Amino acid sequence: DKGEYRHFMLKEIYEQPRVIKATMEGRITKTRVLEQALGTDAANLLENVRHVQIIACGTSFHAGMVARYWIEDLAGVPCSVEVASEFRYRKHVIQPDTLFLCISQSGETADTLAALRQAKKAGFRAAMAICNVPGSSLVRESDLVIMTQAGPEIGVASTKAFTTQLTALLIFTVALARHNGLSEEKEAEIVAALHQLPGQVSDVLALDAEIEDMSKAFMDKNHSLFLGRGSQYPVAMEGALKLKEISYIHAEAYPAGELKHGPLALVDSEMPVVTVAPNNALVEKLKSNLEEVRARGGELFVFADRAADVKPEDGVHVMQLPSVHEITAPIVYTVPLQLLSYHVAVLKGTDVDQPRNLAKSVTVE
Ligand code: M6R
Repeated sequence: DKGEYRHFMLKEIYEQPRVIKATMEGRITKTRVLEQALGTDAANLLENVRHVQIIACGTSFHAGMVARYWIEDLAGVPCSVEVASEFRYRKHVIQPDTLFLCISQSGETADTLAALRQAKKAGFRAAMAICNVPGSSLVRESDLVIMTQAGPEIGVASTKAFTTQLTALLIFTVALARHNGLSEEKEAEIVAALHQLPGQVSDVLALDAEIEDMSKAFMDKNHSLFLGRGSQYPVAMEGALKLKEISYIHAEAYPAGELKHGPLALVDSEMPVVTVAPNNALVEKLKSNLEEVRARGGELFVFADRAADVKPEDGVHVMQLPSVHEITAPIVYTVPLQLLSYHVAVLKGTDVDQPRNLAKSVTVE
């Protein structure tokens, strides 16, 4: 039931503060992650993990891409991320002390399951799943499971599944990092940032009308670029996927530093450039990328931390977001991009909840 909402996608975007909270419930205290809440055997399975191999498709793959930044940064454990359909069809090397982590909303994606089954033959330390559907094949076939508490996701475009996957992945990362020297102080800092998330996502939802206004600029465009740096690069990828999936506008994501290495040639007044710019160490570098775009007449749509001090000017539209902790920023910054693509699709009159050619769950190759 869509209730008061026009589409399931919009309803699911608005459910995020609640379902993110539900995904944290029972898994964190005020200051700590409760490792045993991840599974009675979690402590044993996470000890001596020397490598994490993440496998997923689509939006879930983007969640894995964000997690890689977290895992290497906080746990200092090397992490590889690959789309399932690539992994399963190539010769791969899996070390025995690898944690094999599959991320899937449905738990029934054929390529992800095939990758897991194949990897089992090669041997690894443990199979872990981040999944939204209890009793799914993925859940049944994994040693360690963190269920996202997103509830049923009806819209084909994944929204609340993604942000709850990220929430679960951050909790998992802290648990893993604790086995690898994460200080209690740092843990408390991240857990405090987690507690702030539902409120911060609500603050972003309050910008809906402004984002709807912004969306008008995309209506008659055929192409767009999405830029981000660091853990915001996968956020840009996810933003681009949302836009192409439901509005059928060609959208490509680039790590901002790659701009000069090719895509800058595409930039002109017909190419809107969307950028996510939280106030982290990379923001100054990002600002110079923005100037490169501006100098070529490209119109910029910047989602930035209030504190980042990105100034609106002619051709530069700035949406100021609440100040957030760098670690949780990818979760918060996803939300305005979801709203942007939603409103563009509504304006274009596409079938938002059931985009052409797509299925909610890809259970065939
Ligand atoms: O159920 P899964 O998370 O395994 O599904 C993976 C992808 O098919 C899925 O995320 C797809 O990319 C979404 N439609 C994106 O919005």
